[in-house]
Amino acid sequence: MSGSRAAHSTSTHRWQEDPASAADRPVLRAVVFDLDGVLTDTAEYHYQAWQQLADEEGLAFDREINERLRGVSREQSLDIVLAGRALPATTRKAWLERKNAYYVALLGRLTSADLLPGAQALVTACREAGMATAIASASRNTPTVLAGLGIAELFDAVVDGNSVVRSKPEPDVFLAAAERLGVPAGQCVVLEDAEAGVVGALQAGMWVVGLGPAVRVGRAHARFADLSAVDLATLRDAIAAAAWTVRQHDGSADSVRHQETVFTIGNGHFCVRGSFEEGHPGQAPASFMHGVWDAMPVQVTELAALPAWWGIDLWVDGARLQPHVGMLTGLERQLDLRTGLLTRGFEWTSAPGAPRVAVRFERFVSLDDRHTAAVRVGVTLLSGDSATLRVRAGLNAHVENTGLVHWDLLGQHADGGSANLLTRTRTSGIILGSAAVVQADPALRTGSGDADGQPCVELNGLLQPGRTTMVTKFVAIVSGVDHEDPWAHAQALAGQAAGGGWERLQAASSARWAALWRYADVLVDGAPEAQIALRYNVFQLLIAAPRFTEQASLGAKTLSGFGYRHHVFWDTEIFMLPPFVFSEPQVARNMLMYRWHRLPEARAKAAANGYRGAQFPWESADSGAEVTPTWVPHFANPHELVRIWTGDVEIHITADIAFAVLQYWRVSGDDGFLRAHGAELVLDGARFWASAAHLEADGRYHYRDVIGPDEYHERVDDNAYTNYFARWHLQQAAALLDWLAEHAPADAARLRTHLQLDDDETDRWRDVADRVLLPVDPDTDLLEQFEGYLQLTDVDLPTLRSPARTTSMQQRLGIEGCARTQHLKQPDVLMLAYLLPDVLTARQHQVNYDYYDPRTDHEHGSSLGPSISAVLACRAGRPDLGYAHFLRAARADLLDVRHNAGDGIHGASAGGLWQAAVFGFVGLRVRDDGTVTCDPMLPDAWQGVRLRCRVHGRDHLVEVARSSGGVSATVTVE
Ligand code: G6P
Ligand code: MG
Repeated sequence: MSGSRAAHSTSTHRWQEDPASAADRPVLRAVVFDLDGVLTDTAEYHYQAWQQLADEEGLAFDREINERLRGVSREQSLDIVLAGRALPATTRKAWLERKNAYYVALLGRLTSADLLPGAQALVTACREAGMATAIASASRNTPTVLAGLGIAELFDAVVDGNSVVRSKPEPDVFLAAAERLGVPAGQCVVLEDAEAGVVGALQAGMWVVGLGPAVRVGRAHARFADLSAVDLATLRDAIAAAAWTVRQHDGSADSVRHQETVFTIGNGHFCVRGSFEEGHPGQAPASFMHGVWDAMPVQVTELAALPAWWGIDLWVDGARLQPHVGMLTGLERQLDLRTGLLTRGFEWTSAPGAPRVAVRFERFVSLDDRHTAAVRVGVTLLSGDSATLRVRAGLNAHVENTGLVHWDLLGQHADGGSANLLTRTRTSGIILGSAAVVQADPALRTGSGDADGQPCVELNGLLQPGRTTMVTKFVAIVSGVDHEDPWAHAQALAGQAAGGGWERLQAASSARWAALWRYADVLVDGAPEAQIALRYNVFQLLIAAPRFTEQASLGAKTLSGFGYRHHVFWDTEIFMLPPFVFSEPQVARNMLMYRWHRLPEARAKAAANGYRGAQFPWESADSGAEVTPTWVPHFANPHELVRIWTGDVEIHITADIAFAVLQYWRVSGDDGFLRAHGAELVLDGARFWASAAHLEADGRYHYRDVIGPDEYHERVDDNAYTNYFARWHLQQAAALLDWLAEHAPADAARLRTHLQLDDDETDRWRDVADRVLLPVDPDTDLLEQFEGYLQLTDVDLPTLRSPARTTSMQQRLGIEGCARTQHLKQPDVLMLAYLLPDVLTARQHQVNYDYYDPRTDHEHGSSLGPSISAVLACRAGRPDLGYAHFLRAARADLLDVRHNAGDGIHGASAGGLWQAAVFGFVGLRVRDDGTVTCDPMLPDAWQGVRLRCRVHGRDHLVEVARSSGGVSATVTVE
């Protein structure tokens, strides 16, 4: 049943079965309650019982240690109390029995009066709403406690320390509860007061609400102090919000750069990393805007990090707020993916005895006005009668790109309400106007500061208990690329934003977000982690893709970090473009137009190599000239240089762009684009392929000295991906000419003249397509990745598949050592099979999957790989294997599983994740006539998927649902 393919059919969709869940809310069918600390507070009795034992045995014990016993089993509790001391087994058993006897004696006093406020009402409300209820507790005394409280009959299932072997933080009690209720784990919400319980419930794949302080239950999807103010509607709202929220609760200094990347926000014109307003040691703060390129050594060009506009510095009683100084507690940072609002709250004191304050920062980049953003901070005094507050909010031109300064300062001024800055990039000469208008509590005295490059507004006043002092900063940044008088325009926009106020600016932005999400969202029923990760990864693409210009595209690390210097690779067309093709075609078109505008440079590159037509650069930036660095430092030894050949010989990108053009056209039905621009990209690319093919004595055309997607093997001959794509591209170009002749004869004639295309040339296209070497063995049906690949030393399977491996196979074997083996960074033949499924027979699909998938470095090879492996696993009928790949991609940035998320978002992995869900699990396809079909293949946990897409200008609602009859799909044209 699970994972079974079902025919494309109509069915009544099951989203209705949970009447309280609106269309975009998670389906919740069961509430699983922890007992101690959630429904009743037996922690006090446990404390007394442990204290008695400890006093009798002379063990150190106090309330603080008792806190650490929350949620963990009796045996583990004793281990914590013993703190490493060994005990003979019999003594151990006797002590455990004694503690329990003391505890049970205290339990005798329990009555319904010991139910915590709100507990019984919530359980009853859940039952009345038709939800299943269960207890999942580590306590073996659960039946006694429930009986004492008089609520045993309120639960459909009770799972406790007697029922499972492994206790929390293992997921077993929760999974057993879901099983007994007959409800999928991902449709359960767990209420927990202990960290061990929160971790266990998350591992079980459930929604988790924590009760207590952030330091204890901050990992949960949502958090309340206790149940006293939590009714069922509140609980549902909290989970609905959590499904759109990325949270951070611990501020470990090790993860500063990773978290900066994670909390990047933006609007498709500019983005800002999650850098702290007040700064942090070890940070890599940056904000990037499309079009603001400037030259750099080695990597040629990069986007210049904008002057810092998000900063707000605070002093409380003269002590500067610095997160690493003094004592910071209760950190909670969250990104609302629905609206792009980033918030960060914490409590802070500079030193023992100094005033304690609650601080809350909020910021967003407006989706409504592409030049505008806003930041605000609220400060509340928590101790003492008063304290002085000093605030500095301004702009800072003293920024750098990993050591390189891009800006010259041209002008600045500040007054009591605003700060303004004019800068120019040093090489490209791009002017940038930045303006900030600051609004604050009238009780604060305003002044200004005008240090070189740092105009700012200064505010001074007194904090008083119980009052929150707010300071709001409205920012506008305009580059000379977008406006002829950027500074004046920025000042006008910042003034307008301030005039309208925070709420109005935010509401306008949120309304735009809602419109985007209508098409971009993929709703997953039954898998909290997948749901949040999908929305998060799509969000990261939505904020970075060029929404307002055809002169920019999406770099490999989006606009979220310094990695790859914002250069555009095949990642864009093959991995990141498809979500836009289906949800926001105008943005997909912008990205393709970026390539069209750069055809002259692609032609120049082909000509410089002795070829004809358009050869696109492996790395592209401002002009479209090749910007791949030629030499870079070795990953293991920065004193040694490594020659980078991709810019010279990784030629498949030209076909990848044609693939994207035709995919966009087939899905959007945008004939106008194809006729005016897309066709030229395809035809001039085909001309390149025909001219770059070498006819050899064997009567076959060859492409020698190339690099396929698998960059563990460089400078190879007849790479399968490259050769098959060359043939496909040439065939598509010939077919396109036929289509143009029939449907757009004037354009066909124009293009033939413009490109000087004649029949001899198109005959050659056909000849190359017919005779290009396709490295398939007719006996085995195996496609050889490149000439000689199968003769290489086979993979070291035990190492490759060892869960203990923490480095890539290339790092282990060295660049050359790895190249002598069959280890794959990513599988070229399978990438081909993914993109062009029709060029392989069914048997070829199977044989090649079986051969290449196990030889791939899924864990530490290319971050582009896992999502595609997920789709391929689905096609091989193994959705749960696909799900393991999917989760690897889902965690690339959120959990930094590859330890390099600090450099920026893995954009291709993000786009691939969407493809894994939509093309893999949903199995969505668009037929040539524009019909949308689905062949779903859901992982076990997934109960359903719902998404909307635009195909041929029409809205389609795609719904996939699992039921007892299997998995079914419906596609409704709206
Ligand atoms: C709950 C409590 C823990 C306790 C555990 C085992 O989870 O929060 O403090 O250690 O149950 O209880 P038991 O009643 O089996 O000793
Ligand atoms: Mg508990």
